[in-house]
Amino acid sequence: MSSLEKSWKLWTFLCWFSLAVIAVFMIYLNFPQNTNPRIERTEEEQARYNQKRLSAYESQLDPIENGIHLKSGMKYDENFRLVQKSCTSCHSSKLITQNRATRDGWQQMIRWMQRTQGLPELGIHEPKILDYLSTYYAPTQTGRRALLDTSKIEWYVLEL
Ligand code: HEC
Repeated sequence: MSSLEKSWKLWTFLCWFSLAVIAVFMIYLNFPQNTNPRIERTEEEQARYNQKRLSAYESQLDPIENGIHLKSGMKYDENFRLVQKSCTSCHSSKLITQNRATRDGWQQMIRWMQRTQGLPELGIHEPKILDYLSTYYAPTQTGRRALLDTSKIEWYVLEL
């Protein structure tokens, strides 16, 4: 082997060797992040993170817009899920959204369904359900339309 060949071989060996060292080093650097990114979080942070992921996922499947749960057309608040579970298994949520009643009136409807339609006792949930219903589906106060405000009417002359 000529000395030129020898030094060429040495040179290529050195190149490959240093590439290998760099590769191993990079793998080593990446290793902790690769195994589990959650490892850095405390339990509390992880819980918050999970909650955020979950609600993002839920809001995609079951969107709520401007305080309205789109699939049922019902108002969304902290009692909504309870009402949804207790009240939409037998009939459409439309029966609820189309009705208006006082708290007492809603309770009578519930009693009627319990007497005749097989609605089970609502137990400790009943007050919350009644809160929800009487808040969002209360009777509208006016029995008739409001009087027209004549000052706001734009009159025009009928040209015959
Ligand atoms: C066990 C089945 C069942 C469950 C659960 C149920 N309902 Fe009903 N509900 C009925 C039936 C049956 C009717 C009569 C439907 C019809 O007339 O088409 C009815 C009718 C209604 C009506 C119309 C009443 C009327 O006078 O026209 C409203 C409002 C109503 N339900 C609200 C609710 C609410 C609020 C809940 C939750 C507390 C609920 N329902 C849960 C069975 C049920």
